[in-house]
Amino acid sequence: MIKKAIIPAAGSGTRLGPFTDAIPKELLPVGDKAIIEHVVEAFELTEVDEIAIVVSPRKHGLSDYLGSGKKFGMHFSYVVQDERLGLANAVLAGEHVINNHQFAVALGDNFFRSQDFLRDLIAFHEEEDADATIGVAKVEDVTRHGIIKAEGNAVVDLIEKPKPEEAPSDLGAIGIYAFKPIIFDAIRETKPGYKGEFQLTDSMKILVEWGKKVVYKEIPGIHIDIGTVKDLVRANAYYLDNRGGEKR
Ligand code: G1P
Repeated sequence: MIKKAIIPAAGSGTRLGPFTDAIPKELLPVGDKAIIEHVVEAFELTEVDEIAIVVSPRKHGLSDYLGSGKKFGMHFSYVVQDERLGLANAVLAGEHVINNHQFAVALGDNFFRSQDFLRDLIAFHEEEDADATIGVAKVEDVTRHGIIKAEGNAVVDLIEKPKPEEAPSDLGAIGIYAFKPIIFDAIRETKPGYKGEFQLTDSMKILVEWGKKVVYKEIPGIHIDIGTVKDLVRANAYYLDNRGGEKR
């Protein structure tokens, strides 16, 4: 049973400047809650009760907003990623909290239509007894995602942000994953990749090369990787139209 998780929330959010000069992107609002709080709420529907939130050195606002986790019935620890070295490096920063258990990862800047996406992903991972499970969706822009090549429900190859002509499919990682702790060994073997950073996509590719079981689960419904003002507006429009989300 997965009881631990990591929420990477250390990105710079440059395309959402100048707001993100002052506050972390993950604290921008979708409806009446910060983006990251929607992710935390999705974890409330799972058995997860301990989350490592990976922040950059200047992101104290996140701990001010989320606190100890008590109000969500969980325990949060804040782990600082000193340098921006990529998603794999951010996940590795949370290794001591995970302490050799299975765990889930959900990026702190993604918005999903429904709330049960993490519960479904974790259930699938456990049923499959996989080493890694990647949440994916058909994406419009492959250059913004890690793209998988699948055979059946097995992942046989992955490329981080390929050029459109090099993409093996249109199934892109949408920032949610479940892992056995062997992913940390794969991360340690990972070389810098796209943008010179340590990419989680490349670590999962190493698991595939090691013959480990890497599977994917397609997550239905809208998913917005909030990187721009337009993404933020879309997420808010969707949320306010469909789920209320306004303080009265
Ligand atoms: C990260 C991952 C990428 C994934 C994406 C989902 O990229 O590296 O594989 O598809 O999240 O949001 P980022 O959005 O941090 O650039």
